[in-house]
Amino acid sequence: MLSKRVSTIAFSLFLSAVFLYLWTNNGTGIPTNENSNYYARPKYKTMKSASVGCDDIPDNSDVTITVTDVTKADSDVTKTDNKSTDSDVINCDDAKGKRVFVETKLLENLKRDCDYSVDDGDLVKCKDNSCVRFSKYKSQKAKEFTEKFANPFKKTIPTPILPKFTHGGSNVVKNPKESINEGQIESELAVERKRRLTLGDDDITKIPEVIEATKTDRIPNIIHFVYFGHLRVRVIEYQAFVGALRYQKPDLILFHTDSEPSGEYWDAFKFLAGKKLKIVKRSPPKSIWGININLVEHKADVARLQILLEVGGIYLDTDSVILTSLQPLMGNDLVLGEESEMDLANGVILAKRDSWFLKRWFWEYKYFDDGQWGKSSVVVPWGLWKSFPDKIFVVKQKICRPNWKEVKLLFHELIEWKDHYVMHLYSRFMKDLDGKTERPLKELAVLNTTYGEVARHAIWGNYRGRDVTNWIVTCNLTQQLISEYNSTAPRSDER
Ligand SMILES: *[C@@H]1O[C@H](CO)[C@@H](O)[C@H](O)[C@H]1NC(C)=O
Ligand SMILES: *[C@@H]1O[C@H](CO)[C@@H](O)[C@H](O)[C@H]1NC(C)=O
Ligand SMILES: *[C@@H]1O[C@H](CO)[C@@H](O)[C@H](O)[C@H]1NC(C)=O
Ligand SMILES: *[C@@H]1O[C@H](CO)[C@@H](O)[C@H](O)[C@H]1NC(C)=O
Repeated sequence: MLSKRVSTIAFSLFLSAVFLYLWTNNGTGIPTNENSNYYARPKYKTMKSASVGCDDIPDNSDVTITVTDVTKADSDVTKTDNKSTDSDVINCDDAKGKRVFVETKLLENLKRDCDYSVDDGDLVKCKDNSCVRFSKYKSQKAKEFTEKFANPFKKTIPTPILPKFTHGGSNVVKNPKESINEGQIESELAVERKRRLTLGDDDITKIPEVIEATKTDRIPNIIHFVYFGHLRVRVIEYQAFVGALRYQKPDLILFHTDSEPSGEYWDAFKFLAGKKLKIVKRSPPKSIWGININLVEHKADVARLQILLEVGGIYLDTDSVILTSLQPLMGNDLVLGEESEMDLANGVILAKRDSWFLKRWFWEYKYFDDGQWGKSSVVVPWGLWKSFPDKIFVVKQKICRPNWKEVKLLFHELIEWKDHYVMHLYSRFMKDLDGKTERPLKELAVLNTTYGEVARHAIWGNYRGRDVTNWIVTCNLTQQLISEYNSTAPRSDER
C-alpha cells in the first residue's frame, strides 16, 4: 500500500498534469484510440474467476484458484469410514471417504470445464493439514475479502462550482453574435452522410424504430454510445451500458461504431438489452466545415453532435453511468452538465435534434482547431452558455461531479450521490488513482467508495455491499452477470 505521503505527492503531480490536460485535451469522453499517445489503453484481462485458498488473499485481482481432485493422487486418503466429516474443519487425516481438493490449480479446472463440480460437502486441504468443508471455505474467503475491501468512509458532498471567470463567452467563442445558417448546416450534414453511406454505414434516420422513437415533442428516449476502434468491454463500460438500460429504460440504445465490441461483459449486456440494442455501423468523420480532424477523440466529439443533429436523443460516454432516470430533463431543448468553472462536459448530452444551441455549437466548429484539444468540445459550449443562457439547461451538481479535479472523491472517498443523474467515472484516470484499470466483480461487490457504490447500483440495482461468496468461484462471467442482474438483495449483514 502507498504511504499517505507518496500518494499525496502523486496526487499533486497528477493535479498539475490535469491542469495542463484541460487545455490540451477534451477533458471528457473516453478516448477511442488504442494508439492514442497520452492514453495507454489497459490491456483487457479475463477474469472468469478470481480467488485464493487458505492463505491470505493477495492484493491482486488476477489470482485464480484451481482445484485438484486429490482423491486419486493422494492415495493416503482412503475410504474406510465416514467419521468426523460433519464438522467444518477437520484434520485431513480424518477425511476418510471424502473428496479432498488441494488448493493449487483450483480455478484452472473450473475454467476448463464449467461442469466441473465441487460440492459444498467436499473438503479443501490447507497448508496446516486442516481440511475445510467447501461451503465453509467459500464463506470464510468471502468474509476475509469483505473485511479487506470494506473500509468505512463518511459521505461528503462536492462543493458547488463558483464562477471564476467573468469574461464569459466573449473570449472562447469567436463571435457570439454570429448567426447560424440552417441551410448550410443541413448541407454539411448531408455531405457527410453521403460520404459515410458510400462506406457502407447505416443511415440512422431510416431505421423504423428510430423514426418511431423520435415521434415526440420531448428529447427522444434514445441512448447513443459512440466508439471508433475495437472495444473489448471492461466492467467500467458494462456499468455505463446497464446503468442506461436499467435506470433510463430507453426505447432504443444505438451503439455507433466501426467495429462491434466483444468480451464477456459485452455478451451479457447484449443479452440483457435484447432488441433495444442496435449496433449501427458508423465510420469516423474526417473533416468538419472543410477542416481536417486527426485526433480520434475529436472525431468522436464531432460524431456525437452529428448524430444528435440527425435524430436527437441522449449521448453518453462509455464511462458515464446513468444513476436515475433523466426524464425530468427531457422537456428541455438541450441539457449539459457543468464540469468545472470553465467547461461544460460533452460526455453526456441530451438534445432535441432541432435545438438551436446544438446547431450554434456545431456552427462554431467553423473555427475548429485540431491542435487545441477540447476547446470546441467543452470550452465553447461553456462560452455559448454564458452568452445564451436561455438556450440551454445546465445541470450543476448532478451530472458531472465529481469532476476531473475531484476524482479522488470517486476512488478514495464516498460522496452522497443519490440525487445525481449521471456519474462520470473518468476511466482514463483509474490506473493513477485507483491503482488498477479494472476491478473484478468480487471487489466491486464490497468496495466502499463512491465508485464501489455506483458499480453495485448499476450492475445489481442496489448500491449496498454484496455477498461475494458466489464470486469466489465463478465459471462463466456472462452467465453470472445475467443471472444476478435482477438480484438486488444486499448482503445479509448490511444495513
Ligand atoms: C460413507 O458415506 C457414503 C456416502 O456419503 C456412504 O455411501 C457410505 O456407506 C458411508 N460409509 C460408512 C461406513 O458409513
Ligand atoms: C462503508 O462504510 C460505512 C461507514 O462506516 C458503513 O456504514 C458501510 O456499511 C460500509 N459499506 C460496506 C459495503 O462495507
Ligand atoms: C457462458 O454463458 C453464456 C450465456 O449463457 C454462453 O452464451 C456462453 O457460451 C458461456 N461461455 C462458456 C465459456 O461456457
Ligand atoms: C429482470 O426483471 C425484469 C422485470 O421483472 C424482467 O422483465 C427481465 O426479463 C428480468 N431480466 C433478467 C435477466 O432476469
